[in-house]
Amino acid sequence: MKILETPRLILREFRPDHAEALALTISDAETMLYYRAPLDRSGVEAWISRNLHRYREHGHGLWAMIPKSSGELAGDCGLTVQDVDGQREIEIGYHVRRNLWGQGIATEAARACRDYGFEYLHVERLISLIRPENLPSRRVAEENGMTVWKDVIR
Ligand SMILES: CC(C)(COP(=O)(O)OP(=O)(O)OC[C@H]1O[C@@H](n2cnc3c(N)ncnc32)[C@H](O)[C@@H]1OP(=O)(O)O)[C@@H](O)C(=O)NCCC(=O)NCCS
Repeated sequence: MKILETPRLILREFRPDHAEALALTISDAETMLYYRAPLDRSGVEAWISRNLHRYREHGHGLWAMIPKSSGELAGDCGLTVQDVDGQREIEIGYHVRRNLWGQGIATEAARACRDYGFEYLHVERLISLIRPENLPSRRVAEENGMTVWKDVIR
């Protein structure tokens, strides 16, 4: 199911058969530098299952990011429910396949998710949980109009 369209991208719901293509993003060590570890195949499948569950439960989750030019999965971007200091927040998250970094893809997708969040989810704010040293992710958030709100330990 298609959720969002930007000039260069389609955001659509993941399907179980996206696992192989998604592994190119979230099984990559450099991409997952700020996570516990790159995901193995079962971790990628569990990631997709988690998002299928989120679509059913919340109506949104991380969506598959597909450039119109190639039709090939370029990563994910979307809106997930997070517990932050005991409060329910909606997070904009993104991961882009490393060979596509630096083309403004994450920024373009994140903006569309921001607009979707404010228009359809009726939230007061959206957040992104970012390790302070993750400069590219901070830039995407800044470009998305975000400012530092608070430090949290997770
Ligand atoms: C964060 C990420 C999604 C950005 O994807 P992207 O498509 O390359 O991002 P964009 O091209 O839209 O913009 C990246 C911004 O970061 C900047 N940037 C890129 N590498 C950088 C670096 N090493 N140091 C500082 N800024 C950097 C770019 O210049 C750009 O900023 P600008 O618009 O001011 O020039 C990508 O780097 C990624 O997948 N990282 C690993 C996963 C991750 O950390 N996700 C976020 C979890 S919070």
